[in-house]
Amino acid sequence: MVSRVIPVEPFDLVIFGGTGDLARRKILPALFRRFCAGQMPEEARIIGAARSEHDTDEYKAMVRDAIVEFVGEDDAQADALAAFVDRTDYVTIDARGTDGWVELAGKMREGCVRAFYFSVAPALFGDLAERIHVNGMATDQSRIVVEKPFGHDLATARALNDTLAQHFDEGQIYRIDHYLGKETVQNLMAIRFGNMLFEPLWNSQYVDHIQITVAETVGVGGRGEYYDKAGAMRDMVQNHLMQLLCLIAMEPPAKFDPDAVRDEKLKVIRALDEVEPHHIVRGQYEALDGEHPGYREAAGDPRSSTESYIALKTHISNWRWAGTPFYLRTGKRLVARSSVISVVFKDAPHSIFGPEAGRHANVLSIRLQPNEGITLQVTIKEPGPGGMRLVDVPLDMTFAEALGPESDDPPDAYERLIMDVIRGNQTLFMRGDEVEAAWAWADPMIAGWKARGEVPKPYESGSVGPDQADQLLRRDGRVWRGIKP
Ligand code: BG6
Repeated sequence: MVSRVIPVEPFDLVIFGGTGDLARRKILPALFRRFCAGQMPEEARIIGAARSEHDTDEYKAMVRDAIVEFVGEDDAQADALAAFVDRTDYVTIDARGTDGWVELAGKMREGCVRAFYFSVAPALFGDLAERIHVNGMATDQSRIVVEKPFGHDLATARALNDTLAQHFDEGQIYRIDHYLGKETVQNLMAIRFGNMLFEPLWNSQYVDHIQITVAETVGVGGRGEYYDKAGAMRDMVQNHLMQLLCLIAMEPPAKFDPDAVRDEKLKVIRALDEVEPHHIVRGQYEALDGEHPGYREAAGDPRSSTESYIALKTHISNWRWAGTPFYLRTGKRLVARSSVISVVFKDAPHSIFGPEAGRHANVLSIRLQPNEGITLQVTIKEPGPGGMRLVDVPLDMTFAEALGPESDDPPDAYERLIMDVIRGNQTLFMRGDEVEAAWAWADPMIAGWKARGEVPKPYESGSVGPDQADQLLRRDGRVWRGIKP
């Protein structure tokens, strides 16, 4: 398989928060990789902008260090790195004042794409948008990129949308959910809408239920302060799992175009039922043999009631899905890192082999990470004599094996997304109404468990989560698929 790299137009990319963690870990390494792949043109420029006083040479040294640290010294060949660093510049800026803005405006070139990446606290989004505008940097070719958390609830998300809308059109606002940039998440659309095989069965008549699991082995690490105010619902479910749910459940859009796709996703979110309190299980991980601290210690609050795990059952009230439950779960410090969507089909309506053949259902599992691929569980005759005994076997396709080594190392989500910003393609970005609808679904759940004073159930680090999550499915006569690396 040979990948095709189409260079993007020349651009000026300003990274507000250009010295911060996200810039160093993700944005700059992603740009460097695209530079090495020949997709970022020679004329492109990256301007770091932040409060700290640095001259351009100091910033260039910082960029070099970040690439070596996060791309790896071997991959960051000296020549390419020097050429890349040469494209960077720096301005000390006061997001809430006047310092640095005239200098920044002076660095903008006429006629090329301008992207302003807000890699800063959301509280600064409004100030930045206003100053970009006031200082004459907002042109038709300008776009802004914002990161999650996009709001803390519906009210704050709406306020943020309103603030940005004062200075930029929706078509200029790129809200990143990095899950949408993952190669295999995009593949969900290809699998669903590029094949005739699945679509006729993709509804409540044939699908018994769908499971979406995003399991992580990491804990909250050094992010305890942020995470403790968010929890798994705000950190993962309202955005990443919601996007997966939309892609798996939406109607086929008429074309692969930003608004056609996002209109269909929005319809799914708006059709979601309110989740009943007894259909939600929240958990919190405990310390493991003194090796890893428990959640409360990591979060720095011995009484914290924030969840690091959540499992829930929801329904989509529309013609396609009425009656098919969707089970979602995500958690930190689980037994394995594994993101999988499993579409569990109904049993055959009548078994010609009699009750002793047991129950068998086809399951289509789409592995998003790691070990990306799809598995279709099919029922066959167990080989050999002894009558008609049935057994379920996997038809397994690992993309790396099927597509060759290149697919083994797909571009990082940020590489794809940043290039899409430059190209002006919003398909993989969340529209403002989508974000608001997702909060409108999540808010009552959060308000409910707060009002009831519920405390998350403890679960062992390295386990599959609290036992109560198993009961959530067992009550319905179902079981979770295993969490395997
Ligand atoms: C982030 C969350 O958005 O996604 C983190 O804030 C989480 O808590 C991360 O660990 C997971 O992303 P990935 O790409 O590692 O699955």
